Amino acid sequence: MPGVKGFISFEGIEGAGKSTQSKLLAEYLRPRGHTVITTVEPGGTGIGQQIRALLLEPGNHMDPLTELLLYYASRAQHAREVIYPALLKNTVVITDRFTDSTTAYQGYARGLDLSIIDALNEIVVPDLKPFLTFLLDLDVEEGLRRNRHARKEDRFELETIDFHNRVRQGFLQISAEEPERVKVIDASRNADEVSKHIIKVLEESWR
Ligand code: TMP
Repeated sequence: MPGVKGFISFEGIEGAGKSTQSKLLAEYLRPRGHTVITTVEPGGTGIGQQIRALLLEPGNHMDPLTELLLYYASRAQHAREVIYPALLKNTVVITDRFTDSTTAYQGYARGLDLSIIDALNEIVVPDLKPFLTFLLDLDVEEGLRRNRHARKEDRFELETIDFHNRVRQGFLQISAEEPERVKVIDASRNADEVSKHIIKVLEESWR
């Protein structure tokens, strides 16, 4: 299913506003005749929710390879239970995080070899790549501050600022390599302005 126009992902560091923007985009598209689902990784299925809890529990001291494979276990289930079937029915799928998060977090930030992630993508989600990815880009300290207001503190939020800066730079690197697919959106603005920008980019890409 290469280049399926209805598969859209949101990416970015913690606190960048991905879930808000996924929701706003779905609300824009539905009255315009599209069937849309919003979903999330890790999670998106019952099994995915249980894997998510394991991944984010601050008390779990996890080997990086265990972490990587749990993300792919969640993704395998999510793709087969939710994403592939929805795309086959021409439903627009908006996912809050997908494989670029693995490249940024487990690859660029944790230091796992990017070729392992590429190989897992081939095995777990063959031919499944977002048509368009919105990279909500934000200063790392601002993102973490926003999340603390929301009282979020999971295993990743407890990582160092350095770790989160590597994640941010990793995302920007992915965008530099695939500028047609991965659009950088300045997420420091208010939610309305960010949403308008996203809609404009999507409308231009779908034309
Ligand atoms: P969320 O809080 O944005 O829902 O994401 C949960 C955490 O999981 C977030 O810190 C990013 C991290 N993550 C990875 O490290 N690798 C991945 O492949 C995905 C999907 C998320």
